[in-house]
Amino acid sequence: MPFILRRARPEDRQSIYDVEKSATPGLIYLPFVFDEFLADETGAFIVAETEDQLVGCGKFTLLPDGSAWLETLRVMKAFQGQGIGRLFYQRFFELGREKSVPAMRMYTNINNHASKGLAEQFGFAVAGTCLGQKMACQAGLVSSAPAGFVPVRDVEMAASLLFSLREKWPGFMVLNRTFYAFNQALANFLVERGMLYHDADGKNLVVLGARFMPQQALHIGLMDGDYTACLAFAMHLAAVKGVGSLQCLSPVGAKEAQAEMTRQGFQFEASEFIVMGVDLA
Ligand SMILES: CC(C)(COP(=O)(O)OP(=O)(O)OC[C@H]1O[C@@H](n2cnc3c(N)ncnc32)[C@H](O)[C@@H]1OP(=O)(O)O)[C@@H](O)C(=O)NCCC(=O)NCCS
Repeated sequence: MPFILRRARPEDRQSIYDVEKSATPGLIYLPFVFDEFLADETGAFIVAETEDQLVGCGKFTLLPDGSAWLETLRVMKAFQGQGIGRLFYQRFFELGREKSVPAMRMYTNINNHASKGLAEQFGFAVAGTCLGQKMACQAGLVSSAPAGFVPVRDVEMAASLLFSLREKWPGFMVLNRTFYAFNQALANFLVERGMLYHDADGKNLVVLGARFMPQQALHIGLMDGDYTACLAFAMHLAAVKGVGSLQCLSPVGAKEAQAEMTRQGFQFEASEFIVMGVDLA
């Protein structure tokens, strides 16, 4: 059966929701990001269709450092294993070359053999492994703010704080399951959005924010220093924002941070996540 790839259109909304319901019934977020994905002119929201049915979707997104983030790849269950995922990857590579991206990356659950196998077929290799933890937040319980946390306003300071963490928090920081490499572009992005907080003596550092759906969850991108103080500030901010949960994907080696989150009531997600990438430069 021939499959055609084209840009998503506003009238695809319900069909795309149906694709997600069929492909990832346990992970539904397209209703919250559909308009944002459609409006993204630097990236591309793409669908696959047969003559009479929309059967897949995928999103090519440019991150602040110019790398491509491949996300929300979904093929309807009944159409999986027929080469549609491969067509999306071919299109992602065309877009990557057209936009001269230095690298392309995606993440998946470590047990998602189809997603990992597909990426490997296109030369992607595992670049990091993370553990997810989350905690439900109680509405209306605003604790007092732990003293001293303020957003970092200077991009050079932000870069030096971030780069000092490259070994302790290796690889990437994660917001909404989007993996950001440590570089100057990330420092600029965090400063612009006021997401990087430190305390006056610079001992404690935490990234808090959301790439999208900020009303639902506050994401801890990374933490350093006194984890108890960082988490107290995260919980304070989550309560001020009135979000339903705090979430963090941390590198597998960040054991102390994970232990402190567990002590504070965070639950581990069932399996690990891997980020995979390929260099195009
Ligand atoms: C992952 C997904 C997008 C793949 O799309 P697809 O159209 O089924 O994949 P294709 O038919 O194009 O397969 C292409 C290649 O992927 C790999 N692959 C596909 N299914 C696989 C499986 N079950 N195990 C291992 N590798 C697999 C193979 O390398 C395959 O090549 P081959 O046919 O030459 O062996 C699709 O299965 C899907 O929508 N899954 C649910 C949502 C999801 O997991 N999204 C991605 C991560 S969030």
